[in-house]
Amino acid sequence: MHSKTVVITGGNSGVAKATAIALAGAGARTVITARSGSRGRDALADIRRASGSDLVDLVVFDLADLASVRQGAAVLLDRYDEIHVLVNNAGLVLSERTETADGFESTFGINHLGPFLLTQLLIDRLISSAPARVVNVASTAHRSARHGVGFDDLQSCSGYKGMQVYGRSKLANILFTTELAGRLAGTGVTANSLHPGTVATGFARDGDASGFLALGMRVIKPFTLSPEEGARTSVHLASAPEVAEVTGEYFVRCKTKTPSAAARDEAAAAHLWSVSEELVAEATSAG
Ligand SMILES: NC(=O)c1ccc[n+]([C@@H]2O[C@H](COP(=O)([O-])OP(=O)(O)OC[C@H]3O[C@@H](n4cnc5c(N)ncnc54)[C@H](OP(=O)(O)O)[C@@H]3O)[C@@H](O)[C@H]2O)c1
Repeated sequence: MHSKTVVITGGNSGVAKATAIALAGAGARTVITARSGSRGRDALADIRRASGSDLVDLVVFDLADLASVRQGAAVLLDRYDEIHVLVNNAGLVLSERTETADGFESTFGINHLGPFLLTQLLIDRLISSAPARVVNVASTAHRSARHGVGFDDLQSCSGYKGMQVYGRSKLANILFTTELAGRLAGTGVTANSLHPGTVATGFARDGDASGFLALGMRVIKPFTLSPEEGARTSVHLASAPEVAEVTGEYFVRCKTKTPSAAARDEAAAAHLWSVSEELVAEATSAG
């Protein structure tokens, strides 16, 4: 990965931090993004130490605020003439319904709309740096969204259930990947999504999830993968030569896997793209 520049969102924690350590250790200039400057700086020191590389940087922005995403993307474009890999990893599950700075339901806003906008803002730089790759961290939880992303209530205004909303957002990650891969055909930029496994991270911790959700995560913790193990598929998709030309696929344990029927709905993928474009544009003009 020498002479490659990799951007990883949510890099201060969990799967992304382990992904950053692996890719920095393989020689990539590795840029982590974090919403908290102090957590980001702590992680930066850890990643430099664990990887033995000084080529690790931090950019701070909040995916729950599209203006902040725009500022973060501007910093990335200003600092890095080439971006070869974008790993959209940051994500969460929330037991209570909250809203982003732009008034979107937070899970949908942070897990889908923020990365959607970030990718759009970086796409020309990825194309001019090609061969390049977009890696979207989805989840097997997408399978719970059997009836799709729920276009009639994308903001989950009625009957909010944290895991259901999370599952729909992870389905959105896969649909976004499908549409992105199609739109990027012929550019030398690939787009793939993945499930990292069930990983012992900060996911669904303290403030993010309460009650049964947090209890459930604690119960399964002894049976989960380490962050290093959970990072393997992200690292594979970001760097392995054998997947350099694979695009539009969903991976589990470094192998392609067929996602749910809802995730293979190409009309839904195209519709989600246009709805997301409209929502981002509305937020921008309102801001
Ligand atoms: N752990 C699992 O078992 C599992 C299974 C399937 C899929 N996944 C997926 O894997 C990805 C990584 O999760 P993880 O398990 O590594 O959890 P994690 O340790 O909680 O990491 C999530 C990262 O996302 C960041 N983040 C959350 N909200 C953000 C925002 N508004 N703006 C910017 N960054 C934000 C977090 O920042 P803070 O530290 O500031 O909160 C953190 O760095 C997620 O997309 C998740 O859906 C995880």
